[in-house]
Amino acid sequence: MPQRRRLVAGNWKMHTTVAEAVTLAEAIRASLPAQPGCDVVLLPPFVSLWAVGRHIAGDSRLQLGAQNVHWAPPGAHTGEIAAAMLVDLCRFVLIGHSERRQEFGETDRLVHRKLEAALTAGLLPIVAVGESQAQHDAGRARAVVAAQTRAAFGGCSEDEAARCAVAYEPRWAIGTGRAAAGSDAVSAADAIRRALRAMFGPVADTIRILYGGSVDQDNAPGLFAEPAIDGALVGGASLRPGPFCAIVAAAGSLG
Ligand code: PGA
Repeated sequence: MPQRRRLVAGNWKMHTTVAEAVTLAEAIRASLPAQPGCDVVLLPPFVSLWAVGRHIAGDSRLQLGAQNVHWAPPGAHTGEIAAAMLVDLCRFVLIGHSERRQEFGETDRLVHRKLEAALTAGLLPIVAVGESQAQHDAGRARAVVAAQTRAAFGGCSEDEAARCAVAYEPRWAIGTGRAAAGSDAVSAADAIRRALRAMFGPVADTIRILYGGSVDQDNAPGLFAEPAIDGALVGGASLRPGPFCAIVAAAGSLG
């Protein structure tokens, strides 16, 4: 089983002005462990990518990503951002977050097209999957996340898949303060891992599977103690430097 370096990503969502984003990045830098022992990725809004990128340039502890990308090459798509525009600004990109799926009708098919566009541009995608409350209650979480994983990655090469991470984010746990139980997160991660293995063989074991949904400094150590969980996608707590850096420290110490 390959050793996977843990990854903690802070999804700032639609928060922070440019000035606030730079201030937040600075506060995170100030509280971050000298050697985090894991990959740390900040996902500010598009409009702050350049400013935050300049601010953290030269700090090898921090990397940058976007929260979304369009599937098409540059062209007539008013208000959208192409993958080719992001490569100058950041390395990572989040694809298929449930807020995108729910608020903007992003289907599995679109998630796949976005993944292809990101990979073609040379970005490192973090693909989010997760079931709804009703699907969870019906005992369908494993089937749902496996299907979303297959739909997103179908047609990718092994090399492409190896550049991706997957974030398991049960919808009912996002922003609710009600994180999934470790056993639920492990079960879903196992379903995702099996789907990846069926497509990519041994390469699947190099792909990091993160958990997201109400991660905070109190529940993070328990999550990272699970060998199946390779990191976290953090929303609310990533806007607070102290808790975010405590989550990073937990990931690094247990990595
Ligand atoms: P949360 O959000 O940590 O605020 O639950 C996680 C996410 O949506 O990525």
